[in-house]
Amino acid sequence: MKIFLDTANLKQIKEAVSWGIVDGVTTNPTLVSKENMKFEDLIKKICKVVPGPVSVESVSTKAKDIIQEARGLAKLADNIAVKIPIGLEGLKATKVLASEGIQINTTLIFSSNQALLAAKAGTAFVSPFIGRLDDISQEGMVVIDEIVAIFNNYGFETEIIVASVRHPLHVVEAALTGADIATIPFSVLEKMIKHPLTDIGIEKFLKDWSKVKR
Ligand code: E4P
Repeated sequence: MKIFLDTANLKQIKEAVSWGIVDGVTTNPTLVSKENMKFEDLIKKICKVVPGPVSVESVSTKAKDIIQEARGLAKLADNIAVKIPIGLEGLKATKVLASEGIQINTTLIFSSNQALLAAKAGTAFVSPFIGRLDDISQEGMVVIDEIVAIFNNYGFETEIIVASVRHPLHVVEAALTGADIATIPFSVLEKMIKHPLTDIGIEKFLKDWSKVKR
């Protein structure tokens, strides 16, 4: 499973990239609003650091405006994927942009039917938001299971990004579904590395090593 980092924070991105396990980054208007940098400068900097696609969200609402905005965003760097929220206007724009070779990440997906339509329009990625479904007492991971099965049934090449990940168990569950990618906040990525038994084990081994005659 590929791991994307779900943040627009350059420091976090540089740190996680240095661990050697980051395959891409996803941003959204909320994440970008937290950074104190001019939007285009920030995105260009992120794109230079990340060895894979960097998703940047379009904020237009009409197909012709989305198309124009997405073409501009795609010019910022070679590894840009343009996020477009699912919807009729977004779908129409996706069809046009995908035929131009621009990578689209269809975002704000909450049902497998939305993912199916986005895949048919030629999107490169779909981003189902599992945490936000869990928040309203609907099992987000069920939607991932459905999308994985549907895409396998018909051989869609669209990659599934498990998004709105809130804790390490979400990542385990995402990996078990066979989804292509999980986009993970930095804080969750840090938690994935840790286990108290590992810390206890290292402490004991170091203590015992100090008793070894060398
Ligand atoms: C994904 O692309 C989104 O940026 C993100 O996962 C949304 O997560 P949230 O529901 O925690 O805001």
